[in-house]
Amino acid sequence: MIKVLGVVGARPNFMKIDPVFRVLEREPQKFSTFLVHTGQHYDDRMSKIFFLDLGLRAPDVNLDVGSSTHAEQTGMVMIRLERVLLEQKPDLVLVVGDVNSTLAAAITAAKLHIPVAHIEAGLRSFDRKMPEEINRIVVDALSTYLFTPSRDANENLRREGIPDEHIYFVGNVMIDTLIRCRPLAERSSIFNQLGLNKKDRYALLTLHRPSNVDNREILAEILEALLKIQEEIPIIFPIHPRTKKRIWEFGFQPILEKAHNLRIIPPLGYIDFLALESHATFVLTDSGGIQEETTVLGVPCLTLRENTERPVTITQGTNQLVGHDKNKIIAAAFNILDSQMPQRRIPELWDGHTAERIVEVLRNV
Ligand code: UD1
Ligand code: UDP
Repeated sequence: MIKVLGVVGARPNFMKIDPVFRVLEREPQKFSTFLVHTGQHYDDRMSKIFFLDLGLRAPDVNLDVGSSTHAEQTGMVMIRLERVLLEQKPDLVLVVGDVNSTLAAAITAAKLHIPVAHIEAGLRSFDRKMPEEINRIVVDALSTYLFTPSRDANENLRREGIPDEHIYFVGNVMIDTLIRCRPLAERSSIFNQLGLNKKDRYALLTLHRPSNVDNREILAEILEALLKIQEEIPIIFPIHPRTKKRIWEFGFQPILEKAHNLRIIPPLGYIDFLALESHATFVLTDSGGIQEETTVLGVPCLTLRENTERPVTITQGTNQLVGHDKNKIIAAAFNILDSQMPQRRIPELWDGHTAERIVEVLRNV
């Protein structure tokens, strides 16, 4: 029996662990599973809703770390998780993505000599001002099983001296969740709730990167671009709590009150968000996962960043980097409104079967 302890903490983690736990739980005689939620995200709409939407089983333990500085949050997860690991004695710790909870779990497990499996290994933006980039580098250096979503990730790992026998190119586990949930999303009532029709033209926006929303001038510039775009097409904006807080602190609400076609709504559950994403005319985002999802959905994506750790979404998918320059964002949005749907290819192994490939490897832990 192989005991796998999975760690989740923030919104994008839930979609990544769910398919793997589903496959592990098909074989209770071979694998036992234990799920730890660090509590990094705790609002119902940033956490609980995803357990309901995905049918992910409730965590066995919640470490309730909440929000704080990077060091405090990471340290708190480490202190509380260490006790759980000593008690549970798993054979493997499974971590996903690049958030602080991922980093804390990898360090804690590695120091207890518990092998770490990292899902979404090898992604690099080459921008160490991004907290996630530091998390990715450290987690990959400490992991025994590195599951990569694309071949560029394998190259990044090799360049950092990680031996080939630790690297497994398995595809993109988030796309397993997307493929499974698409039929559910087609039945979502979100269009009715918003008074929209699937065929209507609208843009979907998400924004939460500290580099965009924690800087007053940059956030103001992005909002000015949005003000202009919403004159041409309605924008639906499920707002991340970090961004909501900043708009309030910077006193930007009056700007937004003028934008009658920019609809700010609370963060959405996965199924409703996927429904809006699938039928959007285009998506504006600084999210990592949404660059990948739009590539598979064939929906044009304008990424409000200078770089991406997911280059296949540009070379093969529908993604374009537009940074935070107001004129560049507006020009790119208007260009989409005037042009045909982009040609795109679905990247290799983004086929809905990544979790199965991961579990085949874990069989031999
Ligand atoms: C985190 C991840 C980021 C990921 C994002 C997904 C790190 C370093 N960052 O960023 O990689 O893309 O999650 O959404 O791990 N807050 C709430 N309620 C919540 C959670 C957060 O109000 O349930 C607010 C708090 O004011 C908090 C702020 O959002 O201080 C930021 O939360 P935090 O988890 O530190 O970072 P995110 O920006 O969410
Ligand atoms: N998402 C969601 N509701 C929202 C916004 C995003 O369910 O209101 C989903 C989205 O479909 C994707 C994931 O959350 O699966 C991306 O998470 P996020 O953008 O928070 O993090 P990142 O990918 O940037 O780390």
